[in-house]
Amino acid sequence: MNGVTVVSHPLVQHKLTIMRKKETSTAGFRRLLREISLLLGYEVTRELELTTTEIETPLQTMQAPTLEGKKLVFASVLRAGNGLLEGLLDLVPAARVAHVGLYRDHDTLEAIEYFFKAPSDLADRLVIVVDPMLATANSAISAVEKLKQRGATNLRFLCLLAAPEGIERFTKAHPDVPIFTASIDERLNEKGYIVPGLGDAGDRMYGTK
Ligand code: PRP
Ligand code: URA
Repeated sequence: MNGVTVVSHPLVQHKLTIMRKKETSTAGFRRLLREISLLLGYEVTRELELTTTEIETPLQTMQAPTLEGKKLVFASVLRAGNGLLEGLLDLVPAARVAHVGLYRDHDTLEAIEYFFKAPSDLADRLVIVVDPMLATANSAISAVEKLKQRGATNLRFLCLLAAPEGIERFTKAHPDVPIFTASIDERLNEKGYIVPGLGDAGDRMYGTK
């Protein structure tokens, strides 16, 4: 599918399998999500632009590569986005963070916004939106819309699992935003859950239900 990168690294796929298992504990699920976010983060940042800066090693000066431009922004879609965010911040500690609070209405599956806080200069930064699940895509579409309203023009969307239906809707709504995911699952079920999936990501991360 155009604009979609599936991260097929064996460690990602192995960890994802353990996360999917219904018997995996809350602590195990959270730990694996953090671990997997490091590997997904490696892929989603692969194309970051570099410049050079002069440094002195103990032996001589050199022109050494360094990231170009303003610090990037991770935009976490609450709650479950925070499970990816923690590992991503280990990888890019200087990144700025946006929080987009959304929940899915259980009946309509519409995304309801309850919180938004982002750096003011989004226009100058790469914004990587993170949420483990892309199901109907209502949440992702709405999060990206809001970030664009606040000035973001250069965005990527990073998730763990995506439904084909969600990818299609998201790509139609935001053709300029590439998607990175560990898996494209079979489909959505009648309740809007990804199958085979892993269940409700927020509940599995935090032990709620
Ligand atoms: C989950 C998930 C996404 C959304 C995906 O969040 O983390 O944000 O559902 O579904 P969609 O593509 O159909 O919109 P949820 O609304 O359950 O909130 P939570 O993270 O607070 O549990
Ligand atoms: N949100 C989840 O957490 N899981 C799904 O399968 C769909 C939406």
